[in-house]
Amino acid sequence: MELILDTAVIEEVAEIAEWGVLAGVTTNPSLIKKSGGDFVQTVHAIAELCSGPISAEVVATDVEGMLREAHELKRILPENVIIKVPCTPAGLAACKSLADQGIGVNVTLIFSAAQALLAAQAGAMYVSPFIGRIDDTGVDGMQLIREIMQIWTHHSHITTKVLAASIRSPEHVHQCLLAGVHSCTMPTNIFRQLVNHPLTDKGIEMFLADWAEVEARGDALRP
Ligand code: E4P
Repeated sequence: MELILDTAVIEEVAEIAEWGVLAGVTTNPSLIKKSGGDFVQTVHAIAELCSGPISAEVVATDVEGMLREAHELKRILPENVIIKVPCTPAGLAACKSLADQGIGVNVTLIFSAAQALLAAQAGAMYVSPFIGRIDDTGVDGMQLIREIMQIWTHHSHITTKVLAASIRSPEHVHQCLLAGVHSCTMPTNIFRQLVNHPLTDKGIEMFLADWAEVEARGDALRP
């Protein structure tokens, strides 16, 4: 499963890129607002740290506007930037047109299996179902992910990757792994929670204490 970072904060991209596990970055207008940075400069800076797909979202709501923005973004941003469009009739039409031109598209704001299938048929490189926002409505967001993965097995011609989004907990990531999801985009705090384990910390503490005793008896050979 591709591990993708959901942020527009450069320092966070640098932190996770350093781990050597970063497959891509997703941004959206709200994340750009939160970061306080300029959109184009931010995406350029992210691309210097990550060679995987970086999602940059259009804000137009009509097909022509989406295509105009998408082409401008592709012109001024690095090669690995893909275009994010919302799952609307206009978004699907823009997706189809961009995909036909060989431009990677991430269809976002997916809340049903039907939307995921439509986006895939429109040629999306990624579809992004939003787990956390579905959970917020009192419905199990993971169930949608499982349904989409099941539908994908019945449509072997689909090459669109399922990119689980709106991740709120390490358990969401765990369930995505079990469901065979292709990619998962999550905030930096989830990456940090995934790597940390109290028994790892305790283990290091014990090893260091024991090693200090080895050194104290004078036969430590470590450099
Ligand atoms: C995905 O591409 C979105 O940017 C993101 O996952 C949305 O998550 P949120 O529901 O936490 O805003």
